Amino acid sequence: MLAVTGARHDNARRGRSALATPIWRILAAAMAVALFALFAGSAHAEDGYDLWLRYRPLPAQQAAAYRSHASQLVFGAASPTQTVTRQELLRGLGGLLGRAPAVSDSVTRDGAILIGTPASSPLIQHLQLDTRSLGKEGYLIRSVVVDGHPATAIVGNSDVGALYGAFRFLRLLQTAQSIEHLDLHDAPRLKLRVLDHWDYLNGQVERGYAGASIWDWWKLPDWRDPRYTDYARANASIGINGTVVNNVNAGAEILTPRYLQKVAALADVFRPYGIRVYISARFSAPMEIGGLKTADPLDPQVRQWWRNKADEIYKLIPDFGGFLVKANSEGQPGPQDYKRTHADGANMLADALAPHGGVVMWRTFVYSPSNEDRAKQAYDEFKPLDGQFRPNVLLQTKNGPIDFQPREPFSPLFGAMPKTPMMMELEITKEYLGFATHLVYLGPLFEEVLRADTMTHGKGSTVAKVIEGSLDGQTLTGMAGVANIGTDRNWCGSIFNQANWYVFGRLAWNPDLSSRAIAEEWVRMTFSNDDAFIHPVVDMMMGSREAAVDYMTPLGLHHQMGPGHHYGPAPWDASEARADWRPVYYNRADRNGIGFDRTRSGSDAVDQYAPPVAAQFNDVKQTPENLLLWFHHVPWDYRMRSGHTLWYELVAHYTQGVEDVKQMRQTWARLDGYIDPQRYQQTAAFLAIQEKEAQWWRDACIAYFQSKSGLPLPAGFAPPQHSLQYYESLKFDNVPGFSAW
Ligand code: GCU
Repeated sequence: MLAVTGARHDNARRGRSALATPIWRILAAAMAVALFALFAGSAHAEDGYDLWLRYRPLPAQQAAAYRSHASQLVFGAASPTQTVTRQELLRGLGGLLGRAPAVSDSVTRDGAILIGTPASSPLIQHLQLDTRSLGKEGYLIRSVVVDGHPATAIVGNSDVGALYGAFRFLRLLQTAQSIEHLDLHDAPRLKLRVLDHWDYLNGQVERGYAGASIWDWWKLPDWRDPRYTDYARANASIGINGTVVNNVNAGAEILTPRYLQKVAALADVFRPYGIRVYISARFSAPMEIGGLKTADPLDPQVRQWWRNKADEIYKLIPDFGGFLVKANSEGQPGPQDYKRTHADGANMLADALAPHGGVVMWRTFVYSPSNEDRAKQAYDEFKPLDGQFRPNVLLQTKNGPIDFQPREPFSPLFGAMPKTPMMMELEITKEYLGFATHLVYLGPLFEEVLRADTMTHGKGSTVAKVIEGSLDGQTLTGMAGVANIGTDRNWCGSIFNQANWYVFGRLAWNPDLSSRAIAEEWVRMTFSNDDAFIHPVVDMMMGSREAAVDYMTPLGLHHQMGPGHHYGPAPWDASEARADWRPVYYNRADRNGIGFDRTRSGSDAVDQYAPPVAAQFNDVKQTPENLLLWFHHVPWDYRMRSGHTLWYELVAHYTQGVEDVKQMRQTWARLDGYIDPQRYQQTAAFLAIQEKEAQWWRDACIAYFQSKSGLPLPAGFAPPQHSLQYYESLKFDNVPGFSAW
């Protein structure tokens, strides 16, 4: 039913403008939609639940052409993964082509699709395809001839590889690609492609802006919400193969038998989709739920407790992935409480998991309230430990040295730990980029860090190569994304936030993909294959991150948001107990200038980078201007490359950010009618919120920095709408996603 309305919107626009459409047709269509909604009920509306797996009917001609290549589905074995693969293909092809193909165990007509592995299907084995380059999770899709019939083979070395191939095949149709003469093969470049849920067992999601936790811990394990299956489908469709189900600020309770049963139920749902579950482990759990007096990682009883715990978990969840650990960070317990190192702590857990094949993802997000520049602390703590970790430990490092800011330089730990598997952590939820409502596509942010050149092995030593393991010969590799998923019908708080989940998965599969190409793919699958819609929307997405940087933290500024809840601007704030939680600590604005001096005459954070990068960042003239105030404290009248002063450029960037959002609204206004009204209108309303908040960011920051610089506003720029006192007086309670740990 859904499909009918979706198709009407997609098709109505194909090849002609709204103006060219006779008015009676528009009215008739509108009436049909209204009647449909009346009788079908609102549950069937375009609410975003289907994500990029909408499978609405394709235009008749296109569907007919595809149908001749999808006449039959031929499966090898009935394993759980093959069963869900079959279900997905039936659902996808049935929806897209208006008719599901017949299922058969032999090829009896032209246009069959054979799917499976050489091991499970004699038909596939007979094709003698070279699957060596596919590894365990890769796939190939090839046009073949079977018993004289043209057919398409979707083949993996494992059932999960074939499932990934099935999703790729569906994507070809969803994005209007040819499915003739196919010869595609693809395999993931990273081993662990994981979502980190910052979900608490009480249903709250830290930094989550899409409702409550999707895990209904209370009703698990007996009630397995069908949503868990849809979650697994969505993840598998983009190659995500792991999920950490609880917050890094972990309680010990999840490790109790009662909760492990619940986690096991989730694992059962996810298993056919190739997704393993992981748990965030609280380091002090042996004391809290084990009755021990210590959690010292070198204590034999503690070590035994973790070994027993691992054995217990693997009995319930034979393919359990392992532990994620936040230790000695922001108040969490850890090995340093016992004067042990991070390596001592990680290795103890690694030893408990190793016999079962599990891994430890140990986070490097550490900083203490010392006098040392916060940006330096992770490197200082971890760099000396390189080579001391067990082979099944990965260090999970945020993309930048501080904390998921709209723009940060890459973390200097990438490339600095050649003897340790380095895993990257990205934040998909928009804690610092406008929560649910701002349209900020994170693809360019992710791509920027992946492409950054660490220079640790000479030119071309990109961060992508570090995390792929190719730079230092690591085989255990991975990427984690802090999920933006909640109980909202649209999963992510807005339709466009779905693109951030999507791009994370695609880049974790292949960090060399282009974020623009991924955006286009997502727009086609999510909305429409109409170029007149796609091009402006992709352009808008691609520019949206820079717009947010401009209206929030231009030219290398960072950490200027309201303390604790992180909503809105507060560059003046000095209220936090810890200096390194205060915006003023980072902007250092005074009468003479602005910016954090991290050069050799300042905190010397620059020397944590490889020498050529350090030299670049140390030199104010060579530092990219978009990171200027990250590395340098400069006077207000500092001359920028444009010839303007810093003060002028700062005001210009803030203003440009707001202008960009206005432009995004105009773009969207021109696209009315291309898609269903429900998703169109929500996006329009959210863009209006974004413009209001972008203006607020600009005005509040300019008002504050002007109070420091004492300079008049450059000619041609509008003054802030309110006084600085007004912005400072704004207080916010009950901000979503905020939980004081
Ligand atoms: C940020 C975030 C916290 C989170 C922390 C982390 O500080 O605001 O909510 O717990 O990162 O990554 O551990």
